[in-house]
Amino acid sequence: MSNLNGKMTNNLSHVGYGKGCEIITKKGTIFQSNTGYKLITKKLIQAIKEQYALNWYGIHGIRHWGRVYANGLRLAEGTGAKVSVVKMFSIFHDSRRLNDGSDEAHGPRGAKLAEEFRGKYFELPDDEFELLIIACNQHTVLQIHTDITIQTCFDADRLDLARVGTMPDPRYLCTDLAKNSDIIAWANERSLSDYSPAIVTLWNQ
Ligand SMILES: [Fe+2]
Repeated sequence: MSNLNGKMTNNLSHVGYGKGCEIITKKGTIFQSNTGYKLITKKLIQAIKEQYALNWYGIHGIRHWGRVYANGLRLAEGTGAKVSVVKMFSIFHDSRRLNDGSDEAHGPRGAKLAEEFRGKYFELPDDEFELLIIACNQHTVLQIHTDITIQTCFDADRLDLARVGTMPDPRYLCTDLAKNSDIIAWANERSLSDYSPAIVTLWNQ
């Protein structure tokens, strides 16, 4: 899709600026401006919500996803991770949890949901989709992966552990940036206060 070259400006209801920003049209479609692929749309969020088995505002719900999204974007600025993968990871990795405990198979179920929804609700190039699937499948299994985008996904999630009483431990984080004490403190404060990033408001509209 290439309809992000300014011609749609008059139809925009919300505009985000900066690298990897989204633009939401009045029709509710969010486009990622730096790749042009249809990524996170209202229909996608709604479809995920309709099948989500737990409390939408629970500890593994939408506000957690929003913080993972924001954590991932902050990390990606330094790690160079593929932003589209990080964003999609945030909304799929816990999307098929059946409980708020260990639920060991929730990663593969989230990956499966991404497979089901790809082409129907979102688009992602093959190489990035492969990374998304690995990240979802392995985020509670592997401590680290060789790929920097997958590492960034893992860290984005782990930086939001304070909310469940586990302070992020640099030994279990992958990227040097995530191990930075200032980053951990920033993430902890948001996690402990159940901070709701602006993207959550957009997703919920
Ligand atoms: Fe998570």
